[in-house]
Amino acid sequence: MAVTAVVGAQWGDEGKGRVVDYLAQRADMVIRFQGGDNAGHTVINHYGTFKLHMIPSGIFNPKTRCVIGAGTVVNPANLLGEIEEVEAAGVSLDNLYISERAHVVLPYHPKLDGLEESAREGGSKIGTTKRGIGPTYADKAARSGVRMGDLKRPGYLRERLAMSLERKNRTLAHFGMPPLDLDEMVETCLEWGRVLGDRIVDTLPMVQEAVRGGHYVLLEGQLGVMRDLDWGIYPYVTSSNPTAGAVFSGAGVPPTALTEVIGVVKAYSTAVGGGPFPVELLDADGEKLRDVGKEYGATTGRPRRCGWFDGVAIKYASWLNGFSSLAITKLDVLDDFDVIKVCVAYELDGEQITRMPDTPDLERVTPVYEEWAGWKQSTQDARTWDDLPKAARAFLHRIAELAEVPFRYVSVGPERRQLVVLDTFGVEGVKA
Ligand code: GDP
Ligand code: IMO
Ligand code: MG
Repeated sequence: MAVTAVVGAQWGDEGKGRVVDYLAQRADMVIRFQGGDNAGHTVINHYGTFKLHMIPSGIFNPKTRCVIGAGTVVNPANLLGEIEEVEAAGVSLDNLYISERAHVVLPYHPKLDGLEESAREGGSKIGTTKRGIGPTYADKAARSGVRMGDLKRPGYLRERLAMSLERKNRTLAHFGMPPLDLDEMVETCLEWGRVLGDRIVDTLPMVQEAVRGGHYVLLEGQLGVMRDLDWGIYPYVTSSNPTAGAVFSGAGVPPTALTEVIGVVKAYSTAVGGGPFPVELLDADGEKLRDVGKEYGATTGRPRRCGWFDGVAIKYASWLNGFSSLAITKLDVLDDFDVIKVCVAYELDGEQITRMPDTPDLERVTPVYEEWAGWKQSTQDARTWDDLPKAARAFLHRIAELAEVPFRYVSVGPERRQLVVLDTFGVEGVKA
């Protein structure tokens, strides 16, 4: 069986949650390997509509073990709220495990995230989700973090928190904020440890057992390549690596075990937060994409910036992730456009380029578009390749060509069943 990474190929919100929910119907294990509850993964199935932040999108299959991996950062209070919400819909949470090595988002991390963001001036604002992701990963890298396993080690926890609070209180004082109380913080953490208790485990033995046993393991990415800490539009990035390379350290899956990487990509582009976004449309087409695609952040509710498909970004994503195939989502959002544009290159200093320039240069590029005829009919009920209009098929082929990767899934609506799954795999396999 496969060990499959499902990762975002753009600026996030590509539809990773819905793709993982579909694939997890057959999966033995789903692992979140990076990020935290900055994620908002929408899943719509027979249990209802969910915006999952931390719980892996495989939770709706009672046979799937869901693991929050060592590479993630976990806000226990938010996770408990999410567990309650999902349980209330009749979903069993018995199979949810959290790595003892995952880092804890402590109450001061979101606070600091907000303070740091408000200290950034105008155009330098990252537009973070204010979930404390950056400050938590910063503490992890500085080796002053608290980990989920520590919530069950009272003596050790107090030592770690005492060290950390001393520094944090200095920072909070700098922002004119009152200091945090150690006893109170220790008690809060121990309470989380008590409630999450048995879910916090060494996840490596179960991951290894699944991988070695030839089970179907899915690795669910958060965000997308353009916000990757190393390869994204730094500094307007998140503080972890959403690219497939991070699955190994983040989940504890050995590199030789990975068999497949699925890149999830919208048929157009969206971004939330700051930084360069060359294809952004500030016109009626941009508004229409936002309205029809309901492009509002799943975590913060912010309107997403919208634009046409970016062929430069998808090639970059392909190079970095080594996609086996693409899952192209939200095709139906384009159903009513007369003309659909595709960015095939950037113009920089009078020259056309198809490689992704680094952030300061990316700020200066102008997209070069080609135009495709719209299909002007609904694709929402399409379930097979033949159900799709000819112009839509041609458009999908163009995406695959720009990505230099075949597509295997095409989604035509937000619900689990609104998916075209191509058995005949590949650009050459399916005829336009
Ligand atoms: P994720 O973070 O990558 O899981 O994506 P989000 O859930 O943040 O954003 C994707 C949004 O598009 C959600 O509101 C989904 O319900 C919705 N969606 C996913 N696939 C489709 C599709 O094929 N068509 C339409 N119209 N909506 C979709
Ligand atoms: P999913 O998993 C879209 C963006 C924020 C900000 C930057 C850094 O649902 O695709 P952070 O809070 O991580 O420090 O913010 O990244 N961002 C997302 N954008 N989808 C997400 O998650 C995001 N998570 C973070 O808007 O620009
Ligand atoms: Mg999202």
